[in-house]
Amino acid sequence: MIKGIVFDLDGVLLFTDRFHYLAWKAIADQYQIPFDEKVNDRLRGVSRRESLDIILSYSDRDFSEAEKEDMAAEKNELYRGYLRKMTPADVRDDTRAVLERLRGRGLKLAVGSSSKNTPLILEKTDLAKYFDAISDGNNITHSKPHPEVFLKAADYLNLQPSECIVVEDAEAGIDAGAAGGFLTVGIGYAAHYAKTDRPIQSLSDLPEIPELAV
Ligand code: BG6
Ligand code: MG
Repeated sequence: MIKGIVFDLDGVLLFTDRFHYLAWKAIADQYQIPFDEKVNDRLRGVSRRESLDIILSYSDRDFSEAEKEDMAAEKNELYRGYLRKMTPADVRDDTRAVLERLRGRGLKLAVGSSSKNTPLILEKTDLAKYFDAISDGNNITHSKPHPEVFLKAADYLNLQPSECIVVEDAEAGIDAGAAGGFLTVGIGYAAHYAKTDRPIQSLSDLPEIPELAV
């Protein structure tokens, strides 16, 4: 029986992909590294540092550890500049309605995100109030597709993975959910991924999946 739901943040509850893209694009341009939306798609759910390594794999020169640290820090500053301008209006009304509906059914809700900026995003968008637990890039040592972030979320909710659903937009996130023993729901990009247990078109479809039927 499902008692809890762990939501990825970027691409599920709100959309910061454009900000990631713009910030990484500025860094890539600075070093004449080819970077487009297709490369950006490979970064979904992947940690900041691993994202940088993917971007640098398109360059023909080597970068020192110090250069890589500077690039990641500069990207994050640019990205946080966009995040600071976010407001509660950046979360769709139907997203809030779904969260309220699921809470109303007595389900425990958690965030499971690779992002170290999760606290800033939740604060700017006034989303924290819907969640019983937050597991994010600040409390993990392995990023998705490793299941750690979701296992910790379930643990914080005092639930077993088999009692929880993971909602994701990234293939790495679906893999992480599956590896942790969670039922996976895929939205957006992950709705077209073969390993997703329950693909949905919109978050409003989530309360209707068979496992949550009342
Ligand atoms: C994930 C994004 O939510 O967070 C990734 O999908 C991103 O693209 C990752 O790299 C890490 O984010 P941050 O905010 O810690 O740089
Ligand atoms: Mg995501």
